[in-house]
Amino acid sequence: MNILAIETSCDETAAAVVTAERRVLSSVVLSQDEVHAPFGGVVPELASRQHLRSIGYIVAESLQRASLSTGDIDVFAVTQGPGLIGSLLVGLSFAKGLAYYYRKPLLGIDHLEAHMEAAFLENPDIPFPALALLVSGGHTSLFFLKKRLQFRLLGRTRDDAAGEALDKIAKFLDLGYPGGPVIEKLAHGGNSGKFAFALPRMKDGSLDFSFSGLKTAGLKWIGETKMSSRHPELPDFLASFEAAVVRALLENVIRAAERFPPESLILCGGVARNRRLRDGFEDLARTSGLKAFIPSPQFCTDNAAMVAALAAEKMRGKKRPPLSLDLDAYPRFSRARE
Ligand code: KG4
Ligand code: ZN
Repeated sequence: MNILAIETSCDETAAAVVTAERRVLSSVVLSQDEVHAPFGGVVPELASRQHLRSIGYIVAESLQRASLSTGDIDVFAVTQGPGLIGSLLVGLSFAKGLAYYYRKPLLGIDHLEAHMEAAFLENPDIPFPALALLVSGGHTSLFFLKKRLQFRLLGRTRDDAAGEALDKIAKFLDLGYPGGPVIEKLAHGGNSGKFAFALPRMKDGSLDFSFSGLKTAGLKWIGETKMSSRHPELPDFLASFEAAVVRALLENVIRAAERFPPESLILCGGVARNRRLRDGFEDLARTSGLKAFIPSPQFCTDNAAMVAALAAEKMRGKKRPPLSLDLDAYPRFSRARE
């Protein structure tokens, strides 16, 4: 069985072909970084227009790289939400067109659930229960996974996402977009203990995150030290900020693991590409006697292979679902969808 998936929730136009056995036959991702870089962040209207221009080519490329034609596809899958509504609708409409023309099932997939699925794509036997930390540009959330396809939201950010905080600091210093990878590069070799950052703490004992305080503290340091892209202490400042974001993330995982003891730990989402976070997460797992599962970098940032993989899991053991053309896009993650 071949599954073709489309992902257009934010600023990557992606398509992938994956088999029911989770063999990735192709995974094509076209980033729109160049379109949004001059603005230091994603411009929603430009994102949907760019998806419109690229989607046909990207789907064709994913089929060509898989050495298949559209008629060889058994199931279509598409990201339904959360994300930018205009961008989601481009992928959704394109997928509906394909499913209708070829009379094949179409599955709507949740973007956050797909990020978690990326871990299972390469490690199908992750022991349950598992705690998953999802860190991306739009979301920072902790989930408790009881078993396959059964999860519960434990906490999420009350303001900025971790990736968003990195992107905003990079924007403020005019370092480029997206900020996460630029900061990682420029922070290399910097002294992460040079600038002090107080970690956010939820007074109500919840497992939610907050990054706006860290971001404000970063902006304050920038003002006080006249930090700039040419400042000699830039690597130290960025290393300190990056380390503070990592510490804030890991502290919450530790607290969650005490309350909801897991068998394994999962790290996913675009920021999971970050070396400091990957190393810190693995250290945390080791000291807790748990195993850490982190997708390869290309499956951390937005891609369609994770969407196809989740569709494969949802299809397992099921009869052919109906051709449903009434799927709608949704902008926000809803507890009702858990
Ligand atoms: O999951 P993703 O591709 O898109 C969303 O669903 O938001 O994540 C994008 C985020 C951006 O904020 C970007 O700055 C961050 O992931 N990111 C990184 C790295 N690569 C991407 N953050 C830190 N270090 C990286 N190497
Ligand atoms: Zn994402």
